[in-house]
Amino acid sequence: MKVPTHATDRPISPDAGAGIEAAPPESRMEGAAETRPLPDDALIIVPVRNVVLFPGMVFPLTVGRERSRAAVYEAARLQRPLGVLLQSRPDAEQPGPDELHRVGTTANLIRYITATDGAHHAICQGVQRFRVLQFLEGYPFMAARVELIAESAQAGPDIEGRAQGLKERAAQILELLPQVPKEVVTALQGVEGAPRLADFIAGLMDIGAEEKQALLETLDLRTRLDKLLDLLARRIEVLKVSREIAERTRGSIDDSQRKHLLREQMRTIQKELGEADEGAAEIAGLERAIAGAGMPAEVEKQARKELKRLERMPEGAGEYSMIRSYLDWLIELPWAPGAEAAIDIAEARRILDADHFGLEKVKKRILEYLAVRKLNPSGRSPILCFAGPPGVGKTSLGQSIARATGRQFARLSLGGVHDEAEIRGHRRTYIGSLPGNIIQSVRKAGTRNCVLMLDEVDKLGAGGFHGDPASALLEVLDPEQNATFRDNYLGVPFDLSGVMFVCTANVLDTIPGPLRDRMEIIQLPGYTAQEKLQIARRYLVARQLAATGLTAEQCAIGDDALAAIIDDYTREAGVRNLEREIGNVFRNVAVRIAEGGAQRVAVGPADLAAILGVHKFEAEVAMRSGVPGVATGLAWTPVGGDILFIEAARMPGAGKLILTGQLGEVMKESAQAALSLVKAHSGELGIAPEAFEKSDIHVHVPAGATPKDGPSAGLAIFVALASLLTGRLVRSDVAMTGEISLRGLVLPIGGVKEKVLAALRAGIGTVLLPARNRRDLEDIPADAREKLGIVWVEHVDEAIAAALSPAALETVPA
Ligand SMILES: Nc1ncnc2c1ncn2[C@@H]1O[C@H](COP(=O)(O)OP(=O)(O)OP(=O)(O)O)[C@@H](O)[C@H]1O
Ligand SMILES: [Mg+2]
Repeated sequence: MKVPTHATDRPISPDAGAGIEAAPPESRMEGAAETRPLPDDALIIVPVRNVVLFPGMVFPLTVGRERSRAAVYEAARLQRPLGVLLQSRPDAEQPGPDELHRVGTTANLIRYITATDGAHHAICQGVQRFRVLQFLEGYPFMAARVELIAESAQAGPDIEGRAQGLKERAAQILELLPQVPKEVVTALQGVEGAPRLADFIAGLMDIGAEEKQALLETLDLRTRLDKLLDLLARRIEVLKVSREIAERTRGSIDDSQRKHLLREQMRTIQKELGEADEGAAEIAGLERAIAGAGMPAEVEKQARKELKRLERMPEGAGEYSMIRSYLDWLIELPWAPGAEAAIDIAEARRILDADHFGLEKVKKRILEYLAVRKLNPSGRSPILCFAGPPGVGKTSLGQSIARATGRQFARLSLGGVHDEAEIRGHRRTYIGSLPGNIIQSVRKAGTRNCVLMLDEVDKLGAGGFHGDPASALLEVLDPEQNATFRDNYLGVPFDLSGVMFVCTANVLDTIPGPLRDRMEIIQLPGYTAQEKLQIARRYLVARQLAATGLTAEQCAIGDDALAAIIDDYTREAGVRNLEREIGNVFRNVAVRIAEGGAQRVAVGPADLAAILGVHKFEAEVAMRSGVPGVATGLAWTPVGGDILFIEAARMPGAGKLILTGQLGEVMKESAQAALSLVKAHSGELGIAPEAFEKSDIHVHVPAGATPKDGPSAGLAIFVALASLLTGRLVRSDVAMTGEISLRGLVLPIGGVKEKVLAALRAGIGTVLLPARNRRDLEDIPADAREKLGIVWVEHVDEAIAAALSPAALETVPA
């Protein structure tokens, strides 16, 4: 009998209703105590699916339905038996009289159990059969007038003989079933009387509920015994056959073992006869490879141990290939230190310059790093991390470092790595397990002295269920620990101390703190149009010409065309799309030349529209700001800076401020502050105070679904509001950034270089920057400083003067 062992069970006390404590409060039906008293010949009915309760049987009914709970509650309260009826339609949620069988079993409630998972079970013991005479209405549970059916008193030798046969067959079945608890056998022996025995066995049979119901409804004892005898006989046949099958399979397994033994003997005989054995040759080959792999003593010992296991194993065994590939890994890993080329700083400088234009600060830092490594090879050198928008050359700088130091280069992307095992490998107990990607990369590089670039450290998944990848990575990067890095698959230490790690990231704030502390961050903020032109001229054009198989004579592209591509077809901090568009142009030319239509093609700015399509980017600025209330702000994003528009509108209302455009909390607060500031300055600005009371103000930051946050749009929001309420236009070539205080001070912000470059890209002529950001001036490229007018503002008044057109277009209605 299965009674949930994890249940908290509480006996139902004989006091009326006391046992209901175990039932959840919602099952207490409103007014249940006031329901009409049940007639004496009526039963409280519980409909069940898939279970037939026989007299004498104890069974836990799962009480899920509201009406069933009410029924059990009432039965306990009144201390009356329940009537258990099988549903004729098991899927009916609220079975009506037509969906129930008419014959059931009365049951005494023994216990009420609330399991830890919240399910309710009523432990019932079946008592006697009954037949429904009439269902009663008007109760919160099912009820019916019933007639109890007395057990047949048939007796005599024919009954006793059948009962005896039944007992024997049941015992036989129990013997054939592999794991029947002893208690069942003992219980079977103890059952007295033919009717009880029949019900006991019927309850235990594994047949469908409908079949059981048929047995329940077979009131004639002799017929019931015959039916059961028949069922048991069939069951015995089935069990016998399945046992035979099991034995036959066991026989065939024995057979394969025998064959294996024979094969082993044959191998020995072959050896005796001096005949070459393929397996032996393979083992000998592995042995030589192990000896020549330059493994440390500990590893070699482990490898030989595994080799021994392999030798003893039949080739077909599943484990054979697992050990084989493990040995392959051990053999192929670069254990030997490998000659390290001395670093030639002058040569390194030449290579860095040859590969990349500009980036002076970055190159200088890389050379310093290499110089320190050269002079103090065993010292703790920091881990370099290149941070910046896509396509600014982070990965290619890493390749350049490898070239400059004469090392192999390997790259490993950490984006989306969630599982510690991806870094550190799976234990060999897993089928198909492999070393982690650090060890895999080192094997790919073929030497321990490689440059290993860990791309996208900022996209490393957070630690979760399967361990924290960041902490595994920390161990990899830590010079104190990485000389004995232990991969789960290898199970032996591997020395990573000779690897030169370089990381890249788009953003810094998602890099796990401890990891970031270990790294020296080198920022690559992006290029100005001028720098991009140089990069295109010197690197990208040549590379794309080679890729399309054209020569410089066949296709000439002028600086003006390159500049047009930069301005009109790309908007990015790096040069990746620029390179792609140049490639598009060359492929187009290649088609024309290959078709024989032209020998030489010169591409000018006017040709671009035909090749690349219409401009992808327009000078949005002029387009947007034709009305008062629109100001251009500058934002920092992980892919470089960007411009963003602040739109303010006014409508009749009651002084509410509405903010939309996926603004974060900080940005919302700065909008509030901007509005307060405009109110405070309404006198100087010439805004009638009623303007605020009689209207709602809506501030919207378009461009989408992207969430925006941070305080640095405060100044732009202030200017947009001032423009809206004074009717003075914001000058369309002005963009601004800065946090504002309620006293009207303009406070410093971050990401100045990225923002200035974005302004330049977008065709802005003047940027307003917080005066206290002057210290960032030297970060701004010289050609940007020349092209842009920079106005350093300390107070919002200065921003108004610089950004708003002088006179109101019209008088502003109050
Ligand atoms: N200063 C430069 N001089 C010459 N080529 C450059 C320069 N900066 C970038 N490139 C070229 O631009 C392309 C893109 O650079 P790279 O793949 O290194 O970008 P990334 O910074 O790694 O970007 P991501 O973050 O998307 O990985 C490369 O072909 C690279 O050589
Ligand atoms: Mg990259």
